[in-house]
Amino acid sequence: MITEKIRGSVNPTTRLVLPLDFPDKARALELVRTLSGQVGFFKVGLELYLSEGPSILAQIKEIDPDAGLFLDLKLHDIPATVGRAMEAARKYSPDLITIHTQGGLEMMKAAVENSGGVAVLGVTVLTSLDPSSLDELSDEYRKPGLYAARLAQRALIAGCEGLVCSSLETADLRNRFGQAPLLVTPGIRPDWSLVKGDDQKRIGTVSSALTGGSDLLVIGRPIRDAPDPLEACQRVLEEISLALSDLKDDLEPQD
Ligand code: C5P
Repeated sequence: MITEKIRGSVNPTTRLVLPLDFPDKARALELVRTLSGQVGFFKVGLELYLSEGPSILAQIKEIDPDAGLFLDLKLHDIPATVGRAMEAARKYSPDLITIHTQGGLEMMKAAVENSGGVAVLGVTVLTSLDPSSLDELSDEYRKPGLYAARLAQRALIAGCEGLVCSSLETADLRNRFGQAPLLVTPGIRPDWSLVKGDDQKRIGTVSSALTGGSDLLVIGRPIRDAPDPLEACQRVLEEISLALSDLKDDLEPQD
């Protein structure tokens, strides 16, 4: 299982997911070349996938064979459609693939059954949604933490290996569901990062996410849009290293 592999690695790069949010492969692959060896997983989302098609995955792998591939299509449709889409997607051998937990239990089961062993992650409440964005829904939905926990419970019943959740929810999800699920957290904003017109609302730092129990951090614009992406990436890796060693110290008995 990929979860064990990630947790068993002492290399901080393993914990970093770099989204390739670009409209074309030239810029995406240029960033892969720049950050090759510094990143655990390159994430291909809707923008790049729809622009370039699935061949982009093999092209990334060719440049950085050691990095994992995260196919972030956030599938959300009827169970039969998602099951078949999953069968199609697994041909490209991604390591991680996302579905929306709002698609319901049957849809998630269909996804897992057809995943061919690819780790399926259930996206809970998007980090771009805050309570005011959920206002039009019922009372329960206005509380993203509670809503995420409900969605997470169903994703795990369906057999998802992991969950995508905000750093604001990691500690609660760990408490509720224990160590088993792989927790993947976007909406990471290091104190030094400047993201113009940011759409992410329920955000946290590298340290708050890892301390809460996240396994993987998705960090895009703070690195991609930095004046020097390699330097920003290395700064993130140092923060990951520090947070992981603080966590290790907390777990080890003190003399
Ligand atoms: O760090 P930044 O905000 O640039 O990261 C954006 C990336 O995170 C996008 O690829 C988006 O699809 C992903 N994301 C996610 N889940 C969320 C929010 C964003 O996977 N809840």
